[in-house]
Amino acid sequence: MSTDSLHVQIPKAEVLKFCEACMQSAGANKDHGRQLSEVLFAADYRGHFSHGLNRLPMYVRDIQAKITEKDGEPQILKESAGTAWVDGKNLLGPVVGNFCMDLAIKKAKDAGIGWVVAKGSNHYGIAGWYSLRALDQGLMGISMTNTSPLSAPTRSKEAVLGTNPMSFSAPGKDGDSFVLDMATTTVALGKIEMQKRKNEKMPLGWGQGADGVSSEDPRDVTDRGGCLQPLGGPEITGGYKGYGLSALVEIFCGILGGAHYGPNVRKWMSTQQEADLGQMFAAINPACFCDGFEDRLSDFMGMLRGLDPAEADKPVLVAGDPERQHMAKVDKDGGITYHKNLITSMNELAAELKVTPMKLL
Ligand SMILES: NC(=O)c1ccc[n+]([C@@H]2O[C@H](COP(=O)([O-])OP(=O)(O)OC[C@H]3O[C@@H](n4cnc5c(N)ncnc54)[C@H](O)[C@@H]3O)[C@@H](O)[C@H]2O)c1
Repeated sequence: MSTDSLHVQIPKAEVLKFCEACMQSAGANKDHGRQLSEVLFAADYRGHFSHGLNRLPMYVRDIQAKITEKDGEPQILKESAGTAWVDGKNLLGPVVGNFCMDLAIKKAKDAGIGWVVAKGSNHYGIAGWYSLRALDQGLMGISMTNTSPLSAPTRSKEAVLGTNPMSFSAPGKDGDSFVLDMATTTVALGKIEMQKRKNEKMPLGWGQGADGVSSEDPRDVTDRGGCLQPLGGPEITGGYKGYGLSALVEIFCGILGGAHYGPNVRKWMSTQQEADLGQMFAAINPACFCDGFEDRLSDFMGMLRGLDPAEADKPVLVAGDPERQHMAKVDKDGGITYHKNLITSMNELAAELKVTPMKLL
């Protein structure tokens, strides 16, 4: 594929290598840096550019500021056959997330279900990474995390809830799957940052100004005291349902886990205070229920995908299809297509950390 003047392509291996080198230069334990890099790479490969390289500087700053621990292991505080409560020991989010999901998977294999809740964690990247880990083992996976307050409950001017993402993955047959991975705000903050980087407007329902009114200017959210709106946007278009889902995530994460919650979670991008995020991870073995789950799920997804589309060139999709299409395109192109502005800021980071910048395709 040829790129336009605004985009460049980077081979997949370069992205992974660059993230690992930056984290190591910042002082992270090699294995922890690799675990983080895999999640960031997966985000870009799957087409969620808000949570890939775009987020790398944040993790670098957290390690440099010694506000995230660079070494150690999460600790199980309480455990039953199907549950565990874990202290993430303030390690990088993916280190805590992988530990917790692997524990949930083990429990699901033994007891049919594993439900693990962590406190003391950090930003863990795309929620889908963890539900996909269960999917890899033929299990259904669920993961959620609370995040720094960025979103206003319906009717409020004040941001007291995070973008609180949730993910659910389930196996179909022959490698097919349902993979829902979504923020409970209309969009993740990173998407608004990307609009700002591109100098483009944001659609109504993504965010509001400091006055609590929906806005189309990304800077109202990023620079002028506004915030995100819950999934659905303002009250008239059902934003209160996104608000409810975000509160549900908070209850399963910060409140169940005894971590910070709501407005107590540190300010977004602050390196003054530990994040102490709450996160939950569940694995469920479908074989514990009616036989033939994978066949029925594939039948259901086939029915959905086969629906007559409203626009002929836009077939009906199921959750996970856009990411599958994106990965297929990356593989065909031989690399990930990035906006030049993002790569310019990565080259600045490379210079600051004295690591080799990424080579273009
Ligand atoms: N760790 C954090 O703090 C944090 C916070 C917010 C978001 N995130 C991550 O950011 C990423 C992006 O979140 P998002 O809400 O912007 O995602 P999104 O809106 O792009 O996609 C959400 C879901 O909808 C599905 N989807 C998209 N178009 C579809 C269609 N036409 N038909 C059917 N399904 C469709 C996708 O497969 C995906 O599962 C996610 O990976 C999320 O986990 C992380």
